[in-house]
Amino acid sequence: MAEDHEIAGILRALDGRYLRPAPGGDLLRTPAILPTGRNLHGFDPFRIPSAYAVQDGARQAERLLARHLADGNDFPESIAMVLWGTDNLKSEGGPIGQALALIGATPRFDSYGRLAGAQLVPLAQLGRPRVDVVITLSGIFRDLLPLQIKLLAEAAFLAASADEPDDQNFIRKHALAYQAEHGGDLETASLRVFGNAEGAYGSNVNSLVDNSRWDDADELAETYTRRKGFAYGRSGRPVQQAALLNSVLAGVQLAYQSLDSVELGVTTIDTYFDTLGGISRAVKRAKGVDAQVAPVYIGDQTRDSDGAGTVRTLSEQVALETRTRMLNPKWYEGMLEHGYEGVRQIEVHVTNTMGWSATTGQVQPWVYQQITETFMLDPAMRQRLARLNPTASAQVANRLLEASDRQFWKPDPSVLDALRRAGEELEDRLEGVYSNSPEGSAA
Ligand code: BEZ
Ligand code: MG
Repeated sequence: MAEDHEIAGILRALDGRYLRPAPGGDLLRTPAILPTGRNLHGFDPFRIPSAYAVQDGARQAERLLARHLADGNDFPESIAMVLWGTDNLKSEGGPIGQALALIGATPRFDSYGRLAGAQLVPLAQLGRPRVDVVITLSGIFRDLLPLQIKLLAEAAFLAASADEPDDQNFIRKHALAYQAEHGGDLETASLRVFGNAEGAYGSNVNSLVDNSRWDDADELAETYTRRKGFAYGRSGRPVQQAALLNSVLAGVQLAYQSLDSVELGVTTIDTYFDTLGGISRAVKRAKGVDAQVAPVYIGDQTRDSDGAGTVRTLSEQVALETRTRMLNPKWYEGMLEHGYEGVRQIEVHVTNTMGWSATTGQVQPWVYQQITETFMLDPAMRQRLARLNPTASAQVANRLLEASDRQFWKPDPSVLDALRRAGEELEDRLEGVYSNSPEGSAA
């Protein structure tokens, strides 16, 4: 990793010369990806999920259910699960295996070992009820894994069609209830794979948060549901089904996504709160006015290749990332070595943290308090940030003030006042009118 082979690699490629092949994937799971800058080959779509991913997915499914029960909740009838493309490629389809395991299904392979569809695990072997899994796909998953979309849709349809008792098969229970209320066929009532329309990506919740263009969090839910309201059935073709999506979301008891890799946290990029945060808010809106946001869990298997892993609540995950990244001098000093881009990364983390408050309300107030103390109320740090990147520094102050305006934390009046003055100073620096006189400088 200390050597850069990438520029040399791309120049060879542009010259039309030979580049050695190399596997793609996750740095820790597949160290053979190094050195980068080679001709990476991806995956065989007919072999995802792999046998290992099916086994590992089953373990992660039980781990998620155990955590939810340990937190004092009932066994969940419905779970919302976010599937991305990259994490499935890096784990041979681990999260796909997990969704199948929750439903109580496995992939079926033909005599050449190629993926051919889904099959149900008998209830006696499963040993617990089939969970209703509402799956939402990223646009990248939709583009990369069309066979797996059909696999998941078939698993949901087979479960809804199985002649099994209501209390052992929640997909069937909910699909029959939907049919009784709305009519239509079982094929429609059992649609559980949702995503964007063809050619569209993301839920836009991230850009609403980034631009502060929202008043009520229900607007975020509305945007999410409109963007992700396309159901993918066994044919693999999307059909707009926003009402069905709302109906299934109303029954969801927890939302879940697993981390992509050790390189990314849920506050590193804005797409985690866009997808998992967005669906959490959509669940709350679908349930109605007085509903709480359902528990949100993050699966972390990024460090263990032996099948171990951890399930954290969103609140725990954000706290962990805040302590190990944002408030950790090793992390932020490392960032600041990169100059203006490092300050921008700090700003991005603050904005993403606020995205989680906006969508789930599950960020603890101390997170904002300590970020404020570390980056805004320490005059020396504030000055360093402002010198390196005046725009992003002012944005950090404004974001923290916005979080207070929206009541995501309630700072003491003295802290709020100091933060306001720090923000004004940073705006002055940005406009080039900052003078370091006692009355012009923040405490
Ligand atoms: C994906 O692989 O699906 C994905 C990766 C990064 C952001 C959003 C989606
Ligand atoms: Mg941005």
